[in-house]
Amino acid sequence: MFETLKEQPADKILALMQMFADDPRDHKVDLGVGVYKNAEGVTPVMRAVKAAEKRIWEQQTTKSYTGLAGDPAYADAMIELILSDAVARANVAAVATPGGTGAVRQAFELIRMANPKARVWVSDPTWPNHTSILNYLGIETKSYRYFDSETRGVDFDGMIADLNTAQAGDVVLLHGCCHNPTGANLNLVEWQAVVDLLNARGLIPMIDIAYQGFGDGLDADAAATRLVASSVPECLIAASCSKNFGVYRERTGLLMAVAADAGKTKLNQGTLAFLNRQNYSFPPDHGARVVTTILTDPELRADWAAELEEVRLSMLGLRQQLADELQRLTGSDRFGFIAQHRGMFSRLGTTPELVEKLRADHGIYMVGDSRMNIAGLNSTTVPILARAIVDVGV
Ligand code: LMR
Repeated sequence: MFETLKEQPADKILALMQMFADDPRDHKVDLGVGVYKNAEGVTPVMRAVKAAEKRIWEQQTTKSYTGLAGDPAYADAMIELILSDAVARANVAAVATPGGTGAVRQAFELIRMANPKARVWVSDPTWPNHTSILNYLGIETKSYRYFDSETRGVDFDGMIADLNTAQAGDVVLLHGCCHNPTGANLNLVEWQAVVDLLNARGLIPMIDIAYQGFGDGLDADAAATRLVASSVPECLIAASCSKNFGVYRERTGLLMAVAADAGKTKLNQGTLAFLNRQNYSFPPDHGARVVTTILTDPELRADWAAELEEVRLSMLGLRQQLADELQRLTGSDRFGFIAQHRGMFSRLGTTPELVEKLRADHGIYMVGDSRMNIAGLNSTTVPILARAIVDVGV
């Protein structure tokens, strides 16, 4: 049997992570995988996470199974964090999943189950694992224009034109905030236009929100998701706690199915629980319990939000410093987009050859499509990166 297996394509982001680890150069700079690093290059355990873990360790009396959907308190806390009061809780079915990827995978499975003919529209570009999982599941994928390689902003007209060719029942995958890999985002007026288009054409939105709190703040980053969820008959929302709680390895995600009619929730909830059972039975609990402990304790929640805000502001500071440095070196504003982008990533908008040159000549690692993880920088490496960008002739 094993002899029939074929080599699978390596995930570009994870392959880069390995290449970086194998590079013996001292001055190497990792702008690859989307993991937050502080100025010392460390991915810290957040203060509130440590405190919550201590509390759980002291108070937890059993490791017995929770439920197929995970602990309902986790779903309640996350729904409140993401949707606030945009939709009634009774309209939301939700299950805990192993990370945001687990939520994305379960969402795609639900789509395939509900409508095998549905095509899923993804932004060009999108997180590579979106398309990888869609292909793996045999779901037809279409792409809509998203990134304008001239302005490095959103090609909004192209996006609308492409989505206007979608068929009723198709699903449109949207990044709730902090677009990965580009860093370019819609404003709320544009989001409203997308909502109008979805409703006019009978398209179903699926939102992937993995970076809430990394862009313009916790509420601002959820605004588009809230707008969509409260304006369409139904939507799917895949959320991750990996980044904003820094619990990457705990695999903490949530999938929501939101319906305008609360009468659909029981069926949706049952379907999500069934999908969990088929794929892994009970979702992991530790990260979810940490998140619930934080979100339901006013003191821990305030401390978490404050630390997350420090992280967000530090990334904004690095963006500005890099844009300023490039402005100084080139005498032009053409890199100003770096300060306008939001979230962990910015797409520099250069060729794979120059990305490779940055790696070979300068030990700077970014994904081949020129996605940089801004959080991989610090005030010392920003000028080094800026000089390298100019040196290789971006
Ligand atoms: C990323 O895009 O770098 C992260 O979401 C990590 C991953 O799993 O790819």
